[in-house]
Amino acid sequence: MKKIEQHFSYTVYESILELSHADKELMEAAKEATSLAYAPYSKFRVGAAARLENGVILKGSNQENASFPAGICAERVLLSVVSSLYTESAILEMAISYKNEIGKSDNPISPCGICRQSLLEFEIKTHHGIRLLLGGESGAVYEVQKAAYLLPLGFTSADLLAGVK
Ligand code: THU
Repeated sequence: MKKIEQHFSYTVYESILELSHADKELMEAAKEATSLAYAPYSKFRVGAAARLENGVILKGSNQENASFPAGICAERVLLSVVSSLYTESAILEMAISYKNEIGKSDNPISPCGICRQSLLEFEIKTHHGIRLLLGGESGAVYEVQKAAYLLPLGFTSADLLAGVK
């Protein structure tokens, strides 16, 4: 028997003002993307922005549906946008922010479980970690060095092949 410990750390910036110019630009793009959300049910407009290897910044936002499970999060919309427009490209970093129409909040949000799974697959596919910048409407920004840190012991394609001789 053995016990395995996995440690996870992230950086907390007091505000967007503490970010580098490039990170600030990406977070601003994520905030802009909240205006493209379709969130008539939750009123929670999420915006995400990704910087690619070639410097291009692409945006995504959550798109809801009257059949609630058919809605899709901003992060997965963005991953699909990136894959569709730049099939071979890795994502260097992704910023995520939101606007809650019900009331302002500075609480940084972190990707949901399904998005963590999709982010992990994207990292594996492109052989590149995605550095995450997680923000609220204003206030603190969390920086996570790669999405895989948010899904320890995640299920991957390697598991599908495990045991196959
Ligand atoms: N949502 C995202 O787009 N990203 C997240 O990281 C968390 C949640 C969306 C899903 C839904 O449209 C709304 O926010 C409320 O859950």
